[in-house]
Amino acid sequence: MTSLDSVADVISYVRELAEPFVVGEYVPDWEQRSGMLSAISDYLIIRLRDDAFVDSEPAARQLDCDADTGYRAILAQEVRKFVKRKSLTFPAVELADEKDLPPLKELCLTLDYSEKIVISAAAFAISRLTLSTELVSVVANILFEEAYHLKILTEMLGLDQPSRPWLATDKLANWELVRSCDDGPSYMLLEHLLYEARGGIAAAKGVHDAGLRGVSKRSVAWLEKICNQETNHGISGLVWFGRDYRGARLPLSARSLIRRFIEQECDDQTGTFRTLRQRYSSWLLARYFSGASVQELVVSLKRDVAQCKSTGEIGPNLDEVSWGVDFLYEYLDRDGG
Ligand SMILES: [Fe+2]
Ligand SMILES: [Fe+2]
Repeated sequence: MTSLDSVADVISYVRELAEPFVVGEYVPDWEQRSGMLSAISDYLIIRLRDDAFVDSEPAARQLDCDADTGYRAILAQEVRKFVKRKSLTFPAVELADEKDLPPLKELCLTLDYSEKIVISAAAFAISRLTLSTELVSVVANILFEEAYHLKILTEMLGLDQPSRPWLATDKLANWELVRSCDDGPSYMLLEHLLYEARGGIAAAKGVHDAGLRGVSKRSVAWLEKICNQETNHGISGLVWFGRDYRGARLPLSARSLIRRFIEQECDDQTGTFRTLRQRYSSWLLARYFSGASVQELVVSLKRDVAQCKSTGEIGPNLDEVSWGVDFLYEYLDRDGG
């Protein structure tokens, strides 16, 4: 049986749960594993209240200590029960009705691929990189939320997951970039700032377009739940970037990741909303290197997501986001960040 007697035990169980997703193929018990990850990552956050020095000490000391009182004691017991029974699943989501299904399929039929790549990316970070305990809990929670999005899309659209690709062809560049990350900071920068800050905008556009096509409020509410969590993932990327790289020259490896992201993922030339969306996160990062604070960028992201949900548009125009991409590409080459 899995032991949860020390922080090291908890981290190793988190890694064990995440490991199968690193292969990049369908994992039959994906719901079970990610459900367990939600409980364990919440538990880790509470444990961190006790273990402020856990990253500087061998994390082997026993877990039953000061913070396991009151509600936290109940939570600690429940987590152990879940781990023992291995029985934590997501709540059921209903299939959309026949009026909602056609527009939802048009808008969201490949959205599950976006969820699956982020699940595997998070699993890669948890299992293969050396992350602080705090970051393990953050990334494990993100993995759980992506799996929840996958559950929502799968049930709402009636998708047969075992017969669908886990990593779709257009996600392979993303997967390759993630696997070239060699530490937590570069992973957070790539996956959660560059990919997910613009993912929040894409999700907001989906919410807006679904409303426009007469999808019921009930189904739109599910898309909005996904959108809000995606935006939070982008915010995590921005906040951790500010923490990890503040005042420091960006290492060569991070510069190269950003340049590869621009080359591989910002290639749309249509001048449509798609171009704006693709370049959005580079525009945020370019503003950081031009003097904007992380807090200002978080405000921009939240504002643009809110605007996009209601109008289908965002604040910056094509010239501005294109400036962002060009500036960033040259700046990293010239000054190194
Ligand atoms: Fe998601
Ligand atoms: Fe996300």
